[in-house]
Amino acid sequence: MDIKNVVIIGSGTMGSGIAAHLCNANVPVTLLDLKTDISEKAREKIHKSRPPLLIDKTKINNIKVGNINDDFNVVKKADWIVEAVVERIDVKHNIYEKIFKNRKDGAIVSSNTSSIPIKVLSEKLTIEEKKDFCITHFFNPVRYMGLLEIVKNENNDLKKIESLKKFCEHELGKGAIICNDTPGFLGNRIGVYAMQVAMSEAFRLKMSIEEADAVFGRPMGIPKTGVFGLYDLIGIDLMADVLKSFIKELPESDPFQLVAKEIPMVTKLIQTGYTGRKGKGGFYRMNKEKNQKILEAINLETSEYFPTKKIDLGIETVNLNLLINRKDKYGEYAWSVISKIIKYASSLVPGITDKFNDIDEAMRLGFNWAMGPFEMLKSIGVKNFFDRIDDFENNNFLKDLSKSKNENFYGERQVYTDIETLGKIKQRAIKIDKNKSAQIYRFDEYNIVEFTTKACALDYDSMDALKNATDKPLIIINESMQFSAGVNLSYTMNFAEKGDFKSIEKFIKYFQETCKHLKYSDNPVISAPSGLVLGGGEEVAIQSNFVVSHTNIVMGLVETLVGLVPAGGGCKEVLWRWLQTNEAKKDPDFAPLKVFNIIGYATTATSPVEAEPLKFLRPEDKKVMNRNSLLEVSKRVIQENKNFKPPSPCTFKLSGKPLKDKMVKILEKLYNEKVILDHGMVVGTELANVISGGDTNLQKNLSEDDMYRLELESFMRLIQMKKTQERIRHTLLTGKPLIN
Ligand code: NAI
Repeated sequence: MDIKNVVIIGSGTMGSGIAAHLCNANVPVTLLDLKTDISEKAREKIHKSRPPLLIDKTKINNIKVGNINDDFNVVKKADWIVEAVVERIDVKHNIYEKIFKNRKDGAIVSSNTSSIPIKVLSEKLTIEEKKDFCITHFFNPVRYMGLLEIVKNENNDLKKIESLKKFCEHELGKGAIICNDTPGFLGNRIGVYAMQVAMSEAFRLKMSIEEADAVFGRPMGIPKTGVFGLYDLIGIDLMADVLKSFIKELPESDPFQLVAKEIPMVTKLIQTGYTGRKGKGGFYRMNKEKNQKILEAINLETSEYFPTKKIDLGIETVNLNLLINRKDKYGEYAWSVISKIIKYASSLVPGITDKFNDIDEAMRLGFNWAMGPFEMLKSIGVKNFFDRIDDFENNNFLKDLSKSKNENFYGERQVYTDIETLGKIKQRAIKIDKNKSAQIYRFDEYNIVEFTTKACALDYDSMDALKNATDKPLIIINESMQFSAGVNLSYTMNFAEKGDFKSIEKFIKYFQETCKHLKYSDNPVISAPSGLVLGGGEEVAIQSNFVVSHTNIVMGLVETLVGLVPAGGGCKEVLWRWLQTNEAKKDPDFAPLKVFNIIGYATTATSPVEAEPLKFLRPEDKKVMNRNSLLEVSKRVIQENKNFKPPSPCTFKLSGKPLKDKMVKILEKLYNEKVILDHGMVVGTELANVISGGDTNLQKNLSEDDMYRLELESFMRLIQMKKTQERIRHTLLTGKPLIN
């Protein structure tokens, strides 16, 4: 089955997200709604969306729009028709009648429903039609969410379901998991149950919402929004509807019913417009007092709001045993929530799927958990787990495991895909070297370095791992979301607070030395980024010999936002690339002025397509839709470069002072227009100094080491300034740069 043409019916949040993503995959797609006006507006919204739904905005007109009355003929040519209209069975049935009258023989028809079973959706279809009808449950925002649940039942042509899965996996880059026709499928069934358990246990144990979110968050490998933050994000009213649907669909004996009961306080929040972030606030709200924004949290007993309290559990990385063995209420809460989630998820095997691994992967892809319930059980240890629980009467999975006590029951990650992923291959490494910031996985023919810090921030140890791993071809790749958010600013600030600038200088020098080593080592170095590739992260990527990039990246040299300049070779490398252009050959100041602009404004690209014109990526760098495939493509690059030779060193001819003066003139204009303030002027002048080549002229050759030295000198001057330190502290505290 070839999918060459797709029609989507319903151009709301989901329909337009799916259309945009098909456009990302270069598949011709038409978006139909009740009126063309509606689908046209949807297309405009796609174009303006932030974060962008499109990888390449210039392709927006590849999405054709129309209405279901005048343009329904397009269905006749479609290989796949996706229904994404409102969640009303009467509306959906009417649409199916029309689709099946018009579709070409064998075309797949799917619904994006989140709650209506296939058996109900397809009740009016013939046996032949039912073969080609399934649910394709995408998550919002479609471009960024990895999970796609393909729901089938006994009537389906399984070969067709498999080939749809292959298409969604390889062309759309989704983690496509096939599951049975049961309420909430995999992700929402476990994810919503987990949220409800986390919430009801917080009430029972009289936890504050900040405390609950601090436990049911990073320490458990769950995004930091926790449970109450996530409730606010999704919408408290929407969650109430989701719960109603679960209560209706699930049998009374299902443990979900116990945690889905209406909570009076939550009902009151909805009634008074406190529906979450989209409303007046929710469990958290932003209060404005005396022109200051204060984040407040609701007291679960009194319903009053108080300024939020920061809860520090003193746990840096995910360590479930450390968490559940604490002798305080945090430990009790963690154990209670985790054990209930494990018990519930395992009780649903094989009902919702016969592959327990798929449940874990649905939670990782759909809810961004670091591990699903079964991997949590593995991480706690089978014996430890059964030492603490004994009530698993109707749970065959746990009964069997309690007998076998097999600590290795889990097997491989990502069973749902044939792709050889990083998650799978890590377990087969012949040797693992690690330090506190990175791991080196050693194989016969190549090495892998994976960063292990929060947001993969880089420090001395991260560099050490890279430097020690080039004895073979090296792939730099991470299983966690980000490639790297940049240099670890708190690591740097720890030295700055003590006035120990020598250590900062030593670190930056080592960073430079490592990046140079990556570029010129005898073995090829491949960076395979996805997610954030910022600052130092970009410097590592662009000084690798090859880049295999996921299509969802945010890439940029953003150091000026914290009052610094890139000093790990970022200025040098981007400048070198711009100097190779034809324009630069005619005008020696063309490239430096471009780079001054790009780095000065901390320009970021939100896809490889945007990164290329900035010269953060080169046309020959690979762009990959499926994050799971980054490793396979990187390995192919190694294969194709058996006779790899490191590049020749580069030299720079730059104008020096007259060019710097030009740049300072640009800064003065921005200063007069109040676009930048005093410190912006200082940072900009330092950047100008680096990119103009410092004390040089067009007759002189500057080496890469000269450029590294200029970067280092400027960096060191800036990091010692109070204003820069203030900016870094602000960013560390709020996660956002200081704008003034
Ligand atoms: P929406 O309300 O944003 O959009 C629905 C669209 O369908 C509207 O543009 C409406 O004009 C159009 N429509 C209504 N009747 C129609 C008809 N007879 N023919 C053509 N178009 C018609 O809804 P949303 O959020 O996009 O949801 C669509 C489906 O996806 C629903 O089944 C929902 O349960 C499901 N879903 C929603 C998710 C979300 O996060 N919003 C996530 C996953 C699934």
